[in-house]
Amino acid sequence: MVLTREKNTLAHAVWPATAQATPGGDILVGGVRLTDLAERYGTPVHVMDERDVRQRCREFRRAFPDAEIAYAGKAFLCRAMARLIAEEGLTLDVCSAGELAVARSVRFPAERILMHGNGKTPEDLRAALSYGVSRIVVDCPSEITRLAALVGGDGPAQQVLIRVTPGVDGRTHPAVATGGEDQKFGFSLTSGAAAEAVRRVLAQPGLVLAGLHCHLGSQITRVAAYQQAARRMVDLLAAVRDEHGLALPRLDLGGGFAVPYLRDQQGLDPLALAVPLITELRSACDAHRFPMPRVTLEPGRAISARAGVTLYRVLGIKHTATGRVFVTVNGGMSDNPRPSLYGARYSIRLVGRRPVPGHRSVTVAGRHCEAGDVLVEDVQLPADLRPGDLLAIACTGAYHHSMASNYNLVPRPPVVAVRGGESRLLIRRETEADLLCRDVG
Ligand code: LLP
Repeated sequence: MVLTREKNTLAHAVWPATAQATPGGDILVGGVRLTDLAERYGTPVHVMDERDVRQRCREFRRAFPDAEIAYAGKAFLCRAMARLIAEEGLTLDVCSAGELAVARSVRFPAERILMHGNGKTPEDLRAALSYGVSRIVVDCPSEITRLAALVGGDGPAQQVLIRVTPGVDGRTHPAVATGGEDQKFGFSLTSGAAAEAVRRVLAQPGLVLAGLHCHLGSQITRVAAYQQAARRMVDLLAAVRDEHGLALPRLDLGGGFAVPYLRDQQGLDPLALAVPLITELRSACDAHRFPMPRVTLEPGRAISARAGVTLYRVLGIKHTATGRVFVTVNGGMSDNPRPSLYGARYSIRLVGRRPVPGHRSVTVAGRHCEAGDVLVEDVQLPADLRPGDLLAIACTGAYHHSMASNYNLVPRPPVVAVRGGESRLLIRRETEADLLCRDVG
């Protein structure tokens, strides 16, 4: 079979590393035809290209050979993903007892787990302590005392990082901007809350302050934002040393590295970030005569987004009186809330047949009972699109399955991994029995 790697039509910044268009209009991912996956597993279905995820893990590790790379499990986590992250030598960032339970179920090494969250419950903290996670990132004054009380006098001391708000504007969507002052995360650097948190942690015998953490937000494209945060965090590390005579060994600069969802969107390549960021850090450390800390980075989306493709079937096509064409598919905001939450845009393609030439602008709408349930607004798709056609949306490997809901009691789609011409089910489709089993009234 002759395969065309149609660079013009299949932008590899957006589609998985192994994606190849076939002459007949199909797409192979991991050597498997998307049409075959739709047949075998039904639709909607999330497909994950295992090679792409591993490639992204390795790119981060190569770009930052001295840093710890912690995958932010909130982007997408299941047992297979946790195993893969462990195999690739990454640390895992979890933000709930639930995410930790997945890690625990595959015996993810506890010394390579971080726990985050601005509102960790006592159950989250207990789960973290009982598994013995490496570091807990504290985010609120009362959490410091609660954690210290849970550790108690007898247990081993727990290492913590303090989440600092560095006052850096990541210039991203307000819903995912966390580096500035007017949001719920972290202890402010400028107000002195971060320095006070340091004092509080140091006063707790059951806690060991391992370092500082910040996270600027998500979909950040500017290297300069990370450089600015690094400088400010090193200033604080030096201030802590000056006040307490303690050179904290760790600096965690969070995640947020942007990926493109459309071919002309900008991403933030780890290689483009590495040299300027590490150089900035070294010069900030030199200026304070501070030893270079061990750096942690926490990519989520940059590891798993591009590996994912979601397949939908067209249910119907409707022309409104205003001239708009709606293409309704058999999924929507329950498997992808990102367009409604952040106005996210996507690359979408007809899969499985060669269309007759000619495109028109359509809006791909979901099946849910809300006018706002739109997956892709005003996009050029073949003019002969018809019910039964298969559509593939790219870059759905992060914050799709993990943010899925049961709105309208629609079962959540399965997740299927592909590799070397084979597919395997990672998460099965939810059933009506699943939906009913929690309803015990
Ligand atoms: N570290 C911390 C402490 C975080 O809160 C996050 C994401 C990350 C790392 C990873 O960020 P990433 O590299 O994936 O951008 N639901 C939104 C994204 C929310 C991100 C929440 N925190 C979306 O779909 O765009």
